Amino acid sequence: MSDNLITKVFKKKVSSVPIWFLRQAGRHIPEYFQIKENEKDFVSFCLNEDLIVRSTTLPLKYYDLDAAIIFSDILMIPWAMDRNVKFTKNFGPSLNPMIPEETKIPQNISLSTKLVSLKNSIIYLRKNLPKSIALIGFAGAPWTLACYMIEGKGSKDFINTRKALWNSYKWFMELIETLVVYIADKLEMQARAGADILMIFDSWSHMIPNNFFDDCAIRPTAKIVDILRSRKIFVPVIGFPFKAGASIVKYSCESKVDCIALDWTVDLCWAINNLNKDVALQGNLDPASLIPSQSDHLRENVLTILDIMKDKRFIFNVGHGLTPDCKIDNVKEVISIVRNYNMKV
Ligand code: CP3
Repeated sequence: MSDNLITKVFKKKVSSVPIWFLRQAGRHIPEYFQIKENEKDFVSFCLNEDLIVRSTTLPLKYYDLDAAIIFSDILMIPWAMDRNVKFTKNFGPSLNPMIPEETKIPQNISLSTKLVSLKNSIIYLRKNLPKSIALIGFAGAPWTLACYMIEGKGSKDFINTRKALWNSYKWFMELIETLVVYIADKLEMQARAGADILMIFDSWSHMIPNNFFDDCAIRPTAKIVDILRSRKIFVPVIGFPFKAGASIVKYSCESKVDCIALDWTVDLCWAINNLNKDVALQGNLDPASLIPSQSDHLRENVLTILDIMKDKRFIFNVGHGLTPDCKIDNVKEVISIVRNYNMKV
């Protein structure tokens, strides 16, 4: 594997700060809707090789980026587990909710068979993208997938999931353990197909009761990384324990990830002083800063981030996904500030 700017960050401090954006491929680019029109629903979209390739490369047509994230969704594992995943307009995802202790946890699912189009898209993209662009594969973390699978939809507090954890701990942990293996399988498949980096999204880690954070986030993540390494997959892994607060200190020491993606609430000086120094950092511009047509604070905040992080192993990104109403010109502006800064230091 030849190195690009981002994979280099995992080995040493590089002279430039690389940049890409969470959810860079989605709805804020009008052309996305033309690509989407070609498929009847979002799951079939995520299974269509040609559309995966077109959506993954779409942001590269607009922006000078150091990475492309493969177009898929974290809910493709629950889909492969036959949980009847659907995406409804103005509602978001819906699944058949799992009833703790009653619903059998689907075993022996072959992710590489069910997600063969994802594998083929990565093979195609890695052959055709410039080597300077890192290709990022990803999966949802076990807790976040369990949240959607038990709740059956998005939620503001995932109360049924938390209740299941307290009431049916053994069943819950079986679900987490099963998901660990499927996630490792999916990540392994993506790395073998050519993904240069893997990212694990724990988007609902802030819902985990603190006393269960080890059981539900840290140990399962460490196990996924262990499985990958035991299967001779050595590409860097980015963990994203979204809004997990002070728990990210322990996560940085014990989850075995190579990089932590920070959400927009994290103070970067605090992160430098408190997180494991062997772990690279990614983040953490507030994606809402990219919505206003004119914001005096955007440039100032980007420069502040760069000033704090310039001597660190750091990847510039947003602290959560770009929103559908973010402005293409703002994204371009941020990239240009980062590129110009790189030329000066
Ligand atoms: O640019 C990219 O990053 C594209 C690939 C990507 C998607 N989803 C495509 C998508 C990635 C990396 C994801 C991850 C994802 N999916 C997460 C983790 C990151 C995060 O946002 O916290 C989560 C929690 C999901 C689950 C999910 N998928 C939800 C809740 C929704 C509906 C609400 C929403 O945010 O749109 C989706 C649908 C989805 N996944 C869309 C896209 C482009 C929108 C589909 C559409 O309406 O066209």
